[in-house]
Amino acid sequence: MTNIKDAKCVLVIGATAGIGRALALAIHDLDSKPTVIAAGRRQERLDELAAKSGDSRIKTVQVDINTTYDKLKQFVDDLTGRYPDVDAVVLSSGIQHIFDFEKPESIDVNKIADEFNTNYVAIVNLILLFLPHFLKLNAAGRPSFIIPITSSLAIVPRPTVPNYCATKAALHSFSLSLRAQLAHTNVRVVEILPPLVESELHDHQGTTPALSIFWMPLDQFIKLTIEGLVRGDPEVVVGMAAAVLQRYEKGKREAVEQIYVRGDPAFPPS
Ligand SMILES: NC(=O)c1ccc[n+]([C@@H]2O[C@H](COP(=O)([O-])OP(=O)(O)OC[C@H]3O[C@@H](n4cnc5c(N)ncnc54)[C@H](OP(=O)(O)O)[C@@H]3O)[C@@H](O)[C@H]2O)c1
Repeated sequence: MTNIKDAKCVLVIGATAGIGRALALAIHDLDSKPTVIAAGRRQERLDELAAKSGDSRIKTVQVDINTTYDKLKQFVDDLTGRYPDVDAVVLSSGIQHIFDFEKPESIDVNKIADEFNTNYVAIVNLILLFLPHFLKLNAAGRPSFIIPITSSLAIVPRPTVPNYCATKAALHSFSLSLRAQLAHTNVRVVEILPPLVESELHDHQGTTPALSIFWMPLDQFIKLTIEGLVRGDPEVVVGMAAAVLQRYEKGKREAVEQIYVRGDPAFPPS
């Protein structure tokens, strides 16, 4: 079964904190010894990560993905030019805002757009921009991996963060379609759906102390996620996220595959 250990060079976008940073280190430590390229906006965090690894298999690149398509294209062209072996991208970058629609005057529309662009539009554009390179690797006999990170909130939204949940629901749906479209290639679409996990995501909202009572410790989440990635799971669903998926969306991924990849006469594709 093709899995993360087949990747030679893994780009992790959003590797300066939380899940992305810990995944970058854990992937670096796999016995397959891939090169890891850590990306994010904060250069000092990237420098700290490179220093921590203590070897040259962690590279860093600064990027702000909340930008135009043309700038993302430049980023991907530069990166694939510099690291032609890159065969996996983990899309961990994300932001979250609380919005109270009972108080419409409190809502900053720029934050809605930033959240949607960062969590969805930029991710789809990055996937689009990496695909020609990944398909070229496939043609040379190598697998490649697109690894979006969504959330259990993609399945059952938390109303205090309505736009965030919509971005994650959009990315989840997109990932299901993308996997089906690429089913006959050797590009693996592996969606990670975390539960509430220890990270910096909620720090700017002031909700970290309350959430930290319930969240899964980062180490535990990373251990279970790496196990799923090494098993080659198409969806790596951890902790409470597995219970939510099982209860409210059981069979959806299989249905997309059955109807649109294998073909099911009972459900003609519409
Ligand atoms: N923690 C949870 O409970 C939880 C649950 C479900 C899903 N998730 C998802 O898991 C992913 C990781 O979140 P986390 O919890 O680890 O949050 P985090 O600790 O806040 O880390 C978020 C990362 O995203 C990067 N980032 C944000 N905006 C960016 C931009 N415009 N360009 C490039 N990088 C950007 C940040 O780096 P810079 O600021 O340096 O750019 C940081 O490395 C996110 O997609 C999140 O939605 C988290």
